[in-house]
Amino acid sequence: MLISKFYGLGARAIKRLVKDRTLTPRTSYLPLVHNHYIRTLRHELFCSTATKLDSEEGNEEMQKINVTFVDKDGEEMQIKVPEGMSMLEAAHENEIELEGACEGSLACSTCHVIVMDMNHYNNLPDPTDEENDMLDLAFGLTETSRLGCQIIAKPELDGLRLALPSATRNFAVDGFKPKPH
Ligand code: FES
Repeated sequence: MLISKFYGLGARAIKRLVKDRTLTPRTSYLPLVHNHYIRTLRHELFCSTATKLDSEEGNEEMQKINVTFVDKDGEEMQIKVPEGMSMLEAAHENEIELEGACEGSLACSTCHVIVMDMNHYNNLPDPTDEENDMLDLAFGLTETSRLGCQIIAKPELDGLRLALPSATRNFAVDGFKPKPH
């Protein structure tokens, strides 16, 4: 398609040159056509590459959602999270204190977060049995508790607000069990 476009442009260029009398029977028009092709090719390649890069950058910007983490003191941290990234990964990338001892393998409850808005909570897929088992071990479980490693960024979650619980229970991974007082 690109090639035929070039030929079309080349034919139009020849017609214009003949009309303008730039070409005479003694003039060899091949170098002119060749130069025209090269200029057009450069223009096409440069413009299409720039447009592609622009649109990729635009997509990247569009594919991030806004998420706010609220720590136990009520301090808010607003971050942008790319689609497909878990809230645990996003927290770690932004130095937010969400532990995630098992690194998302559903073997702890230290990535426990509380979804602060019911609409966003309802937009999440239902927790699996494994997530529910781990949530049962979470400190300060609430109606809208989820594991941060299981919340994956998607457009419907834009504006998500997550509260960090004041404590976590971390004895499922490293074997530590607090002694009763
Ligand atoms: Fe352990 Fe999420 S990091 S369950």
